Amino acid sequence: MAGMFDLELHDAPDPEFISDDEGPTADLDTTLNVTEIEEQFRQQGPLGVSGEHIETLEISENTVNPGKVKAGPQDFELLKVLGKGGYGKVFQVRKITGKDCGSIFAMKVLKKATIMRNAKDTAHTKAERNILECVKNPFIVDLIYAFQTGGKLYLILEYLPGGELFMQLEREGIFMEDMACFYLAEITLAIEHLHGQGIIYRDLKPENILLTTQGHIKLTDFGLCKESIDEGLMTHTFCGTIEYM
Ligand code: ADE
Repeated sequence: MAGMFDLELHDAPDPEFISDDEGPTADLDTTLNVTEIEEQFRQQGPLGVSGEHIETLEISENTVNPGKVKAGPQDFELLKVLGKGGYGKVFQVRKITGKDCGSIFAMKVLKKATIMRNAKDTAHTKAERNILECVKNPFIVDLIYAFQTGGKLYLILEYLPGGELFMQLEREGIFMEDMACFYLAEITLAIEHLHGQGIIYRDLKPENILLTTQGHIKLTDFGLCKESIDEGLMTHTFCGTIEYM
């Protein structure tokens, strides 16, 4: 069983369109860590379904992918880069296979080697995937597919054409009171929903709020969330984005 998740046996080449700047992670420690993280991802509930080369993970229920068709990087055509961060990149992609062929998504690509340098990043990545899988709410970005290759983790999220609330704020300079009330009301509903599920969202900022075509908000980026919070209990971690503290 131990060898089952060995990278050497199951490592599929990553698609060429997303270059791996850091080359292969061949040393023993990293290999073991990658093996661990793959196993953990696989054990985390209904997302864990193994494929032949590419380990494919799917969410149990969603409207875009009701037939639970497996997906991998080869099912998506890269359109443009939407964002970059320490974690990896977010691309705009088009699905080129299956029932949802032609649909546009946001693809968040995380490098396992980068995530695993830091135990906290590993935990944050797992938290993000867990939360996005479980939480379904009109004001929270929807996870459509999740899968992995030997070197990368992929989250396929609904694409939000309105971009970041941050950009909207930059364009407008300030929000009029009615606009601010509208956004705040929707953000409150999103946060309230998370709290109802025992999740604390700890990185609230306009960069993490995306807009739909109709101008509604959706929270994204769940890497800093804390899960399984009991009512009345305090959490003391100092975290978030320095500029907003
Ligand atoms: N940037 C980061 N995530 C995004 C998403 N889901 N839709 C549009 N732009 C994004």
